[in-house]
Amino acid sequence: MVYIRGRKGEKERRTEVKEERKPPERLDIDLEKLKKAYKDIEEANRQIRESHMEMILNLAIAAEYKDPDTGSHILRISDYAAEVARALGLAAEEVEILRYASPMHDIGKLGIPDKILQKPGKLDPDEWEIMKQHPLIGARIFQNSKSPLLRAASQIALSHHEQYDGNGYPSGLKGEDIPLFGRIVTMVDIFDAIVSKRCYKSAASFREGMDYVKSLSGTYLDPKLVDLFVRIEGKIKEIYEANTTIQQFLSEFGGEESLRDGG
Ligand SMILES: [Fe+2]
Ligand SMILES: [Fe+2]
Repeated sequence: MVYIRGRKGEKERRTEVKEERKPPERLDIDLEKLKKAYKDIEEANRQIRESHMEMILNLAIAAEYKDPDTGSHILRISDYAAEVARALGLAAEEVEILRYASPMHDIGKLGIPDKILQKPGKLDPDEWEIMKQHPLIGARIFQNSKSPLLRAASQIALSHHEQYDGNGYPSGLKGEDIPLFGRIVTMVDIFDAIVSKRCYKSAASFREGMDYVKSLSGTYLDPKLVDLFVRIEGKIKEIYEANTTIQQFLSEFGGEESLRDGG
């Protein structure tokens, strides 16, 4: 028989297997304590997540008030965007990331002078150039973030004024080169701007809002997303109607205000 170096005999291998299968030493684990520790960790995580979200929403509200728009706009954006993401079949985690990142699309307005944001008339070309910086400023605010949520917020802030046909800003990205989250937020931001009352215009009806979104298919907006938006019209209307009540309440107390850059 030829001896092959390194090859072990059957007996030797069986002994090794037996040794590997030695029963583990009994660990004295208190299952109840373990369950409680797990619950405590879960609760701590929930609290961290909640305060994280609260801080993010407050930041977004700060940017919107400076514009000045109201907090209700960003909450509606969040609901519409999450609904579109769900209908697209995105994973539940992605839907939640979009839900919480989308309200920060205009966070960069924190870096735009009030005299431009709150100018009652039209912006002159120089002022408009400054206004067009807000996506870059917004992206910069979150650019070094490690959390997927804030990275998404940075991406959305940067891309929510890009246009499907390449005529948007700041980069003139075209079609699917524009990140999906950015394309979704652009669409729901425009829809909400149209159906909301502003200091310079009354609110368009739900139907007019839907028709306006359809009219921008393939130019400003991604046609596939517009088709989807039309398909889930029932769900969009539910959010619209729920928020119409909030809007009516806010307008009685002087809440709904202006918005300048289309969303
Ligand atoms: Fe914007
Ligand atoms: Fe907006």
